[in-house]
Amino acid sequence: MIADVAAARILLGVAGGIAAYKSCELLRRLTESGHSVRVLPTASALKFVGAATFEALSGQPVRTGVFADVPAVPHVALGQQADLVVVAPATADLLARAAHGRADDLLTAALLTAHCPVLLVPAMHTEMWEHPATRDNVALLRSRGVVVMEPASGRLTGRDTGPGRLPEPAEIAELARLLLERPDALPRDLSGRRVVVSAGGTREPLDPVRFLGNRSSGRQGYALAQVAAQRGAAVTLVAGHTAELGDPAGVEVVHVGTTRELREAVLAAAKGADAVAMAAAVADFRPASFASDKIKKGSTDPEPLVLTRNPDVLVELTQGREQGQVILGFAAETGDATGDVLHHGRAKLARKGADLLVVNTVGDGRGFEVADNAGWLLGADGTEQELHPGSKALLASRVWDAVSARLRAHG
Ligand code: CTP
Repeated sequence: MIADVAAARILLGVAGGIAAYKSCELLRRLTESGHSVRVLPTASALKFVGAATFEALSGQPVRTGVFADVPAVPHVALGQQADLVVVAPATADLLARAAHGRADDLLTAALLTAHCPVLLVPAMHTEMWEHPATRDNVALLRSRGVVVMEPASGRLTGRDTGPGRLPEPAEIAELARLLLERPDALPRDLSGRRVVVSAGGTREPLDPVRFLGNRSSGRQGYALAQVAAQRGAAVTLVAGHTAELGDPAGVEVVHVGTTRELREAVLAAAKGADAVAMAAAVADFRPASFASDKIKKGSTDPEPLVLTRNPDVLVELTQGREQGQVILGFAAETGDATGDVLHHGRAKLARKGADLLVVNTVGDGRGFEVADNAGWLLGADGTEQELHPGSKALLASRVWDAVSARLRAHG
């Protein structure tokens, strides 16, 4: 950990693209998290958003050139003192200038003096993102340890759609927090790998308006998908019901409702995948019958609810495991008279036949519907790693470390 994660010094660079307006929302999120944020717009960025907006939201002065406040040597001091630099949006021009070590304004000068993690968040038209010049610049920056985020796909300025959209400010803020928690959380070690993640809770309908569900928010699964994509993987996220989470940038999302739909989507996506992470809270039972008309209250007590078993997707995955495929499960456990959380976790790992199992302690507000997570990572090879409290993205990064090591070992 490099800094007090709750109160870091962040430089927020803003380059001149239309997505610059979204940097205001990112700035607000970062300052509300307790960070001290200094905004460094390029001169072009100020054509989209006025300096007064950045100054009011950050509470700090805004300069673009290297000739203001010369006695304070800001072009050197700002970069040296920062705990994190985020540039959002990073235009094709900004990426080119950063890749080539230019220092023709305060932002690029600060990039040259920063010793801290640097997160560049590209936003540009698809052609510009896919142009060989930009690809080379991104590769060069990544080879130097700069984190260049995968852009989102979707509607761009004008009528076009495609990769190049700025990811949602909430997602950028999560990655910023992750890099403060763990500067080396986003290596490109999953490049060329294909992974499947399930997330959220399944819902089993009883009649057209009622269902059996659970409290899963989907946040841990979304964090796994987000982090895997930023580590270079091609990711399919099979999402049940979640707490209205936006699709993570660079991830293919398949939305499902019931356990049987989830099973179908996961098994299809798992074909040829390098790794599958089952973070979904899968309903073990469903109503034995579905009433096609809404069940009426009537004047007598209702019939007891009859339930039937759902398929166990994780067990199906491990039984049909392809050569070299790494399969990971989750278990939310409470201790009881027969054993503690780890005891139950180890038994479940063996029962399910998974390679890895994340064991969370639930109850007392832990695990479900909260932003942070902690637990243990158990391996079928007998390994046991404590996952210290931190963001769900931090836990995801530890999980992908373990998956990546196993994939490397399989060759
Ligand atoms: N899981 C699954 N299919 C199910 C139930 C669970 O694939 N029908 C997966 C979950 O996604 C998770 C793991 O199995 O990765 C463990 O889930 P959990 O609910 O803890 O396991 P259960 O087998 O339901 O055990 P328990 O009796 O403790 O509820």
